[in-house]
Amino acid sequence: MGSSVEQIVLFGLLLAFAAAQPTKDDWDIYSFHINSTVSGRYATTVITSRVANRMNQSKEIVFHVQIPKNAFISKFRMMMDKEVFDGVVKTKERAQQQYSQAVLLGQSAGIVSSVGRTMEEFKTSVAVAAHKKVTFELTYEELLKRTHGKYELQIHARPMQPVRDFKVDVHIHEKAGISFINVKGGLSTLANAITKTHADKQAWVHFYPTVDQQKTCERCGERGLNGDLVIVYDVNQDNGLGDVKILDGYFVHHFAPSNLPRIPKNVVFVIDKSGSMSGRKMEQTRTALIHILNDLTEDDFFGIISFNHAIFHWKTELVPAIASNVERAKEFAQSIRDGGATNINDALLEGARMLNAQSRIGSASILIFLTDGDPTAGETNLERIQSNVREAVAEKFPLYCLGFGSDVNFEFLEKMSLQNNGVARRIYVDSDADLQLKGFYEEVATPLLTDITMIYVGGSNLTKTNFSQYYNGSEIVVAGEITDNNVETFTPQVVAYSSNRRVTFSNTSGSTDQPSETVAENLLQRVWAYLTVKQLLDRELLLSGPEKEKVSKEALELSLKYSFVTPLTSMVVTKPQGEESVLHKPKEGAATFPSSFADPGRAQTLSTGGRAWVPLMTPSAGRVSKLSRGAAAPNIHSLPSSGSGFGVGLPGPPPPPGFGLSSLPPPPGFGLPGPPPPPGFGLPGPPDFGLPGPPGPPGFGPPDSPGSPGFAPPGPPGHPGFAPPGSPGSPGFDPPALISHRFLFKTENQSAPVCFDVPGFHVLKLFHHPSKSIYINGALNPVTNGGFRKILIQVQSGHYIDINPEGIWALQGGSIIQITGQNPIQAGSVTVTPRGQETDVLAEDLHIVVLVHQRDGNKFLWPVLKKRPSGSDTDGILVSTPANYTVESHPSQTLLKIPGRFDSPVFSSFATDYSVASPVTVQCWFTMNLLILGKPLPFYVV
Ligand SMILES: *[C@@H]1O[C@H](CO)[C@@H](O)[C@H](O)[C@H]1NC(C)=O
Ligand SMILES: *[C@@H]1O[C@H](CO)[C@@H](O)[C@H](O)[C@H]1NC(C)=O
Ligand SMILES: *[C@@H]1O[C@H](CO)[C@@H](O)[C@H](O)[C@H]1NC(C)=O
Ligand SMILES: *[C@@H]1O[C@H](CO)[C@@H](O)[C@H](O)[C@H]1NC(C)=O
Ligand SMILES: *[C@@H]1O[C@H](CO)[C@@H](O)[C@H](O)[C@H]1NC(C)=O
Repeated sequence: MGSSVEQIVLFGLLLAFAAAQPTKDDWDIYSFHINSTVSGRYATTVITSRVANRMNQSKEIVFHVQIPKNAFISKFRMMMDKEVFDGVVKTKERAQQQYSQAVLLGQSAGIVSSVGRTMEEFKTSVAVAAHKKVTFELTYEELLKRTHGKYELQIHARPMQPVRDFKVDVHIHEKAGISFINVKGGLSTLANAITKTHADKQAWVHFYPTVDQQKTCERCGERGLNGDLVIVYDVNQDNGLGDVKILDGYFVHHFAPSNLPRIPKNVVFVIDKSGSMSGRKMEQTRTALIHILNDLTEDDFFGIISFNHAIFHWKTELVPAIASNVERAKEFAQSIRDGGATNINDALLEGARMLNAQSRIGSASILIFLTDGDPTAGETNLERIQSNVREAVAEKFPLYCLGFGSDVNFEFLEKMSLQNNGVARRIYVDSDADLQLKGFYEEVATPLLTDITMIYVGGSNLTKTNFSQYYNGSEIVVAGEITDNNVETFTPQVVAYSSNRRVTFSNTSGSTDQPSETVAENLLQRVWAYLTVKQLLDRELLLSGPEKEKVSKEALELSLKYSFVTPLTSMVVTKPQGEESVLHKPKEGAATFPSSFADPGRAQTLSTGGRAWVPLMTPSAGRVSKLSRGAAAPNIHSLPSSGSGFGVGLPGPPPPPGFGLSSLPPPPGFGLPGPPPPPGFGLPGPPDFGLPGPPGPPGFGPPDSPGSPGFAPPGPPGHPGFAPPGSPGSPGFDPPALISHRFLFKTENQSAPVCFDVPGFHVLKLFHHPSKSIYINGALNPVTNGGFRKILIQVQSGHYIDINPEGIWALQGGSIIQITGQNPIQAGSVTVTPRGQETDVLAEDLHIVVLVHQRDGNKFLWPVLKKRPSGSDTDGILVSTPANYTVESHPSQTLLKIPGRFDSPVFSSFATDYSVASPVTVQCWFTMNLLILGKPLPFYVV
């Protein structure tokens, strides 16, 4: 049911120093080829771009294309001077460090991020020496999905300049025979440039526009092509068992009969009419609903519910779709007006009740739910909504969730759909939203079979085999291994219900045919791996605990084995100078990353005057959310570190309170339910909301208790602020990987210091002095208690100093130089003095020492505040003035007391003090970071 559109977008190669319009003298894409081979509906596409640097100096050349969201990148290579640089797929963690390094050094890491409806964009760059050439080659793979009776392969070309040798070659090979093939899209207006050949089992499309043609098509111009080429085709369906391909011990079965009678359906539409639907969205929903009602057949039964904080029925039971009912229902649809809050729970339960009240014998029941926001009324706990809905639906019918616009919590809808045999779909806010809604409905409008069981005697390691419904125009695909490669005993069979009749499809002709010559080696094995990974990733979403880990591990192993860039893996490309570049695949949902973290305006590009694309990392799962466009960055990327100097009441002289990372797990007593949170816990600001809370001290109080937002389970990555204030957090989500860093805060007058955790691997504001244009940030390592991997100092515009465990780099006058020796480096008013394992940083009257430590073989940085600056307009975690607290031991508990505010329990724990050259582990009182820092964490995150 997913989109069947495969797109290839060529943004082409941009000169990195993007401010300058590329001119022919600078650089030249002299050849651009896209070669897509579709065999058995599995598309393998190779984009090859060849670029020459015509300058007499080195240039950063960017490779920037878009690939379908459904695809996995499987190969990337660069060729320069006869040298080949191949990408290697690694686990995300392994890749992360290299990646972050590259990003913080201002090197353009290759990344993939979600854009638009069906695409992800991929960018990377490489420095190309004067008068040299580079070739980029990107390969990705995708199983096309049949919807509305067709497969679509979409190519969007936008190379940003006319290209002398521009070619798109598509070769489709389908053993079952190709029933039709068409070429559509904006570029198809260049009919003279297209040749199409259709010969029964094969078809070819060639698109070779001349340079002149590249400037003349619709939306094309001096910058060359800008548009789509969409190849639409279908295969002959045999109406029996379908197409079973066997190769090298694997099989792939496409099942898509179309000559069956339709099954009457019972359909309930649950339509959000809350205030946020106002305007165009509501209007388009009404329009779509009226069209859909017109398309119902007389023997269908239907119901409509609209909801905001309350539920509005048209009729409380389903009615037959006879003309008079449809007319009255259209009047109801026409009258739906927006306003109010969003009670998703009650609306879905009511929809399920209506369907359950209707006899399902010989019919197919479907629940269609449309919303544009998060639950804000009634039950708002996502997990409880999910479990209520699951109980009400009880596997009796599929639930399809349509998320309208970018404010929906898509992961929540996706999970709920998967839990109930359905799928979730995004509806994009656009002029065609009504058509998107109607298009979705049409995919499920004609049920032909229910309760489909795919049986493979002699098959093993099968992908999903049970499906609740099959719709005309779609397909069911199953892949697996043939046990012992014994083709003789392998017997596929399909058992299903057509109305109330049990039907069996088996292979009467006895010819599960061997594929022909053109099928690439291991193709079916790759299809099997592709489907298996996709399904494991879906299942992972539904599971928790050890089961989730197991599924995740399985998906990871397959991704590594088949070299797929999935949300669990990344591809690392080592570039000529030893730089590394990493490709990540975002999870669906990342596209709508709202606000703070993904705000491109705030994005921390370390702009070296033109390397334009630096990804912004999310704090939690290590997912890349968005790209920031490379305007000169206002401030430095944040680097982590928390400094020592929280010195409560310690202005002035040395040694500041020690700051340490713990290397010890919390003591066992930690997870026990503790005393209830004091009332004051919920006070501090909403910004903390939705950010990962401190990892798991459940003892701090029931996670759901209102008023303890800071303790809510980590919100889903990318939904900061998602939970409305006062609501219990966002428990419906799996917490992101619990990476956290422990900080130690020593005060002079306390026998035991306090400690707290910072979850995630943020870039932290260490010290900012805006009026002096001094910004020091620190990036935490993406491993627990891994310290900082980088500290970046920016002074005025254009001066950067980058300290990492391997050395110090400075950016001056547009070039990056490594600092060797121990001579001080001056950057504006900042002086950095390397001294081996210590680096001195003096900025105005601030004095920081950055230590290099080593743990488990990994080096990391730790900044220590030596002298607090006198200025008042500074901020940052290193110089924050923490709450003035005391720790008091009582027989039953230990309390942290902040005068005039509240007391809160603290727990005995341990932390490592890294503020000294030889770290020591000390006992500390553990509490929330908020209580010590006095401000919510986001305040310190860049
Ligand atoms: C496209 O790729 C296929 C498979 O790798 C190869 O056989 C074919 O020659 C390529 N076509 C072009 C035009 O490069
Ligand atoms: C190379 O560029 C420099 C300045 O950018 C110019 O002075 C020089 O003449 C150029 N050399 C050639 C061979 O174009
Ligand atoms: C299913 O689709 C096929 C081809 O698109 C069409 O010929 C057939 O009538 C459809 N079946 C029903 C029951 O609508
Ligand atoms: C297939 O399943 C068997 C166990 O049933 C397992 O040992 C084998 O590794 C699996 N094959 C693959 C390719 O996962
Ligand atoms: C699939 O359906 C069959 C029969 O309906 C049932 O016996 C089997 O347990 C199901 N398998 C799964 C994995 O749900």
